[in-house]
Amino acid sequence: MKKRIFSGAQPTGDLHIGNYLGATKNWVELQHEYDSLFCIVDMHAITVPQDPEVLRKKSLELARMYLAAGVDPDVATIFIQSDVPAHAELSWVLNCVARMGELERMTQFKDKSEGKAERASVGLFTYPVLMAADILLYQSDLVPVGQDQKQHLELTRDLAERFNRDYGETFILPEPFIRKDGAKILSLKDPSKKMSKSDPNLNATIFLQDDADTIMRKVKKAVTDSGTTIEFDESRPAINNLLTIYKLLTGKTSEECVSDFEGQGYGQFKPALGEVIVEFLKPFQERVAAFDEAELRNVLDAGAEKARNLASSTIETTYRNLGLK
Ligand code: AQP
Repeated sequence: MKKRIFSGAQPTGDLHIGNYLGATKNWVELQHEYDSLFCIVDMHAITVPQDPEVLRKKSLELARMYLAAGVDPDVATIFIQSDVPAHAELSWVLNCVARMGELERMTQFKDKSEGKAERASVGLFTYPVLMAADILLYQSDLVPVGQDQKQHLELTRDLAERFNRDYGETFILPEPFIRKDGAKILSLKDPSKKMSKSDPNLNATIFLQDDADTIMRKVKKAVTDSGTTIEFDESRPAINNLLTIYKLLTGKTSEECVSDFEGQGYGQFKPALGEVIVEFLKPFQERVAAFDEAELRNVLDAGAEKARNLASSTIETTYRNLGLK
């Protein structure tokens, strides 16, 4: 039996190069080795207000992006979270297992609600519980995510462990899969922050749908650290970040990347990096545009059916163990 992976992204905006390098690229690399489920987590998206029409459209667009990035619907299950009611059902059960204190420690909630916690939705607060439900529902062994999700994964394991202890063996304890390179791609404008879909500064984020001119402009405007050499250096997060993007998109080793720019400065490096990103995204964007709408629907319907079947067996066991059946 193959081990199982589960992961997802929110249809809250367009995917960026951080989402791709931190998560989606790893999905594509792991999908043949693992029984894979990749979800469009639209129920997570509604933890902040969304325009219903835009949300519907973005969910389908995100599915196209998964496919264009190389997720293969013949081996992986791609589905929309709200097509599987069991996510909400297990989420409620886990809400009754999670403790206020542990959710209050979640840094993502603190960051996202900063200065407006009183008005933040309860859903934003319990977001990590829904994420735990997503993962545990499928008895996932491995969860490939970016560094920002590590704390949520630890909570997921804690909830599973507590439930198993109190109500009997029910859930597999999942492991995070976080690669060293690419796990936290930084904002191009502020390397103390991660690159983010919702960053109000549009120059901070390279979206997978950006055109060539936009990409070249954003890379040229990216902030730099003091120092002029083009090399990996943890104490210079800006160049470290740009060189990591170069490394992951070219597939070169660190030594090869550094030797490509030996004796050169930002004036040579930035346009070369811009070109690499443009060349990488060109075929990706063509695939996004080419995917047939009806085919997309078929993939998502088949994915939802498979996910519903897998999820229903976990819900049965969970309810029985809890005394709900
Ligand atoms: N900057 C990043 N570097 C590496 N990985 C990242 N991920 C997100 N940002 C980076 C990973 O991408 C996957 C999908 O993320 P998500 O859709 O759940 O969104 P998010 O984590 O909330 O981050 P975003 O994309 O920046 O959105 P907003 O602005 O809405 O917060 C996850 O595996 C995540 O770790």
